[in-house]
Amino acid sequence: MKIEEERWETGERQGGKKMEEETKKTPVKILVCDDDPAFRKLVQTYLRSADKSFVLEEAGQKEEIQDALDKGGIDLVLMDILMPEKSGIEWLDEIVEKRIAPVVMVTGFGSEEIAVQSLHEGAIDYIPKDHLTKDKLLSTIKITLETWKRKRAEEEKRKLSGELEAKNAELKKAMGHMADLEEITRMKTDFLSITSHELRTPLTPMKSQLQMLQEGYMGKLNKKQEKSIEVVLRNLTRLENLIGDILDISRIEAGRIKLSFDSMNLNDAVKEAIKMQEAFAKGKNIEIRAKLAEMPNIIGDAERLRQAIGNLLNNAIKFSEKTGKVIIETKRLGKNVQVSITDYGIGIAKADQKKLFKPFSQIDSSMGREQVGTGLGLAIVKRIIEVHGGHVWIESEKGKGCRVCFKLPGNRKKKK
Ligand SMILES: Nc1ncnc2c1ncn2[C@@H]1O[C@H](COP(=O)(O)OP(=O)(O)OP(=O)(O)O)[C@@H](O)[C@H]1O
Ligand SMILES: [Mg+2]
Repeated sequence: MKIEEERWETGERQGGKKMEEETKKTPVKILVCDDDPAFRKLVQTYLRSADKSFVLEEAGQKEEIQDALDKGGIDLVLMDILMPEKSGIEWLDEIVEKRIAPVVMVTGFGSEEIAVQSLHEGAIDYIPKDHLTKDKLLSTIKITLETWKRKRAEEEKRKLSGELEAKNAELKKAMGHMADLEEITRMKTDFLSITSHELRTPLTPMKSQLQMLQEGYMGKLNKKQEKSIEVVLRNLTRLENLIGDILDISRIEAGRIKLSFDSMNLNDAVKEAIKMQEAFAKGKNIEIRAKLAEMPNIIGDAERLRQAIGNLLNNAIKFSEKTGKVIIETKRLGKNVQVSITDYGIGIAKADQKKLFKPFSQIDSSMGREQVGTGLGLAIVKRIIEVHGGHVWIESEKGKGCRVCFKLPGNRKKKK
């Protein structure tokens, strides 16, 4: 404590101890700019006798000052107001602008007015050259260093709060956009769900009337009429499927997909799906080969899983050349179960594989374009598999066929 008292005899006591500790650790480097060697010597004597933790750098000429400033690492500058070549005020302006270090102006007789001006231009304090005492020098240095530290902290705080305000404004704007987007998404989902529902309603009576026509309830049909009714019915079924898919995807996006979980066997879902795709496969002379392992029962929505497998089988047949085979395989992997569907068709490039699980995405290949479809099948599959706690992926290379697999956990409990 004795040293502290010696060093900072005058000036604020608050924080003095902390500062003492700091200056002990890292020496305070002071640049004395004065062309008068006697004054530099005086400063040196005072600082040396005060504490060893001061490092003094002396500069009397313009070049020496410039060199010292360029080198950096200065904690405080003592600057004589009356310097040759470049005035003390000019040096002050440069040091303040570059925020190099705090400046204390050294005033000679009759230069008080300039000293006051220097305070306006950024000097922290000034000391008289004549009758300078050790106490005055040390207390001025202490207060200047503290003021500088406080000013820098305030500047930093101002900068940070400015940045914070800007970020806040950005965030507010982004949140506004997000609210708009959410509203648009909600409107789109509502639109899809209402229109697809409304579109589906008249399809049922249309279909039954056509079926009655086909079965001869309204009189015997000739061959041409029979063919025509067949075409209309086929397209009606396509329309029905498409509307069903749109309704499904809109429910999925709105989080309104309803599932009824029960104990089921994936092999049964596979067999059902094959049955429903058989006619399509036959039409392309494609054999569906099933390799079904013995499977444990799992908890799942049998109808939705049949739909997912059906969508994958449909793709495998659709994107294969005429004549060939599609293999569907089930297997048990520890506690999990896996289904894979392999075809030898046009394949999918790696870069396209992930995006195809998004609604309405299709590859614009010439063969892909020839095929009918809306690009909803895989999006529906992904969602169905995910609500079962599983995941789906594609293994393929362009032109080399495609294998789509999904894995489901076998140990899910039925929700009460
Ligand atoms: N087995 C496959 N081989 C090659 N490309 C495929 C295969 N399965 C899917 N794709 C590509 O992924 C796209 C998206 O498939 P998805 O099942 O989602 O839609 P779609 O079959 O075009 O239409 P939808 O299933 O709605 O009738 C397809 O258009 C096709 O480009
Ligand atoms: Mg499809």
